Amino acid sequence: MNQNANKNIPPHHQWFAQARYGMFIHWGPYAQFGRGEQVLFRERLDQREYTERAMAWKPRSLDLSQWARHAKDGGFRYAVFTTRHHDGFAMWPTGQYDYHSVNAFGRDVVGEYVEAFRSQGLRVGLYYSLADWRQRAYWLGPKDDPTGFERFRGQVFAQVRELLTNYGKIDVIWFDGPWPHNAASWHSSELIDMIRSLQPNILINNRLDCTSFLSPAVSIVDPEAAGESKQLGDFGTPEHHVTADPNRMWESCQTSTRRLWGYTTGEYWRGVDELLSNLCEVAARGGNLLLNVGPDADGRFPEPFLVQSKTIGDWLRVNHEAIFNTTDGNTFEFITRGYVTTRHNEVYLILRFWDGGSEITLAPLATPVTRATLLTPSGDQSLGVTVRRGVTTITGLPATPPVPYFPVMKLTCASQPAPHDWAVRRLWSGDPRRMADWATT
Ligand code: GLC
Repeated sequence: MNQNANKNIPPHHQWFAQARYGMFIHWGPYAQFGRGEQVLFRERLDQREYTERAMAWKPRSLDLSQWARHAKDGGFRYAVFTTRHHDGFAMWPTGQYDYHSVNAFGRDVVGEYVEAFRSQGLRVGLYYSLADWRQRAYWLGPKDDPTGFERFRGQVFAQVRELLTNYGKIDVIWFDGPWPHNAASWHSSELIDMIRSLQPNILINNRLDCTSFLSPAVSIVDPEAAGESKQLGDFGTPEHHVTADPNRMWESCQTSTRRLWGYTTGEYWRGVDELLSNLCEVAARGGNLLLNVGPDADGRFPEPFLVQSKTIGDWLRVNHEAIFNTTDGNTFEFITRGYVTTRHNEVYLILRFWDGGSEITLAPLATPVTRATLLTPSGDQSLGVTVRRGVTTITGLPATPPVPYFPVMKLTCASQPAPHDWAVRRLWSGDPRRMADWATT
């Protein structure tokens, strides 16, 4: 079942509906503090001291081509880089103020990023924070400081124009920090018109007015009820959680450490099994995973992230066809063992664990399976398929898994697999008589 089928996705946005795996990069002067990207406000630091430290920042090992190589080797398809975070520091030579990377250490990081990632064949996205914690007008807002806020908003428009004019084709613009102001205050619709006139093919995320991305409990099912407009934004951005957006494409952004996005000294790193599980889950539900890295103050990707991304990259080299260019896999119940994705006549079963048994019996399927293989580092390995009284069993599984995490079985069906009724209408929905009938078989 293709959950993106009814979302009216224009052809130039289709790549995103299949992209599945992007790299989020949070990097700014806050990396020097080692306590995340929000240290300025969260610790109520002295603005002058923070600014001085930002302007004295000298990253010693910054190599954007290396970042791009890591991204490519890790199997990422696109990236999103923080051009300015809530501290207001611009990572490009903005004409709006002097507080930027060229004045601090002589590098246009945005320019280098765009070039390096593009030359690795990756799509490029720019994150931009509407919030700027240094500016009174931002805090006071249009009601308490109409003139100041108008000037502030003009600066936002001008910076977005710079970013979308000076660096060629940009694939994604990723806004953040709208709170506490709404779309009317930001003139979001006008901003979107400007963006589309500068970059007609760009994707715009949904944070030009909303806050519902912060909690799965806030009505994503009805964004308008949450004060969020369905028109503003081509894709949803559930943060720290995987929740499918029924109205548009979506991308779950996740940290690779426990909590923070910016570099954090001594933070705990999430297990690779957890991250890979996120990637498989978003694929099974038709979305994307934007996995974050916070490079250190010198501009290096932390070692634990390199291990995580290499492990996932190695896994993708064997199992990529189960993730990329797939549609979500609500074809039959597989929740006890893992995730399902589909492509053409293929169903991919992504196993969360390997129990060592030689057979797997499947829940009812709507389309017969004609062939089964196991994806392994040395190619597809044939498995057996038996069907007895309508029940399909896959046989001939080896005792040990072909890859350390999430092995994949590929089932080829007689035709494009139709979703089985029991996968569409789960336990809690549909006609209860079918459960009752099954209870007495
Ligand atoms: C939140 C945070 C911000 C982070 C972003 C990533 O909105 O304010 O620090 O950059 O999430 O999604």
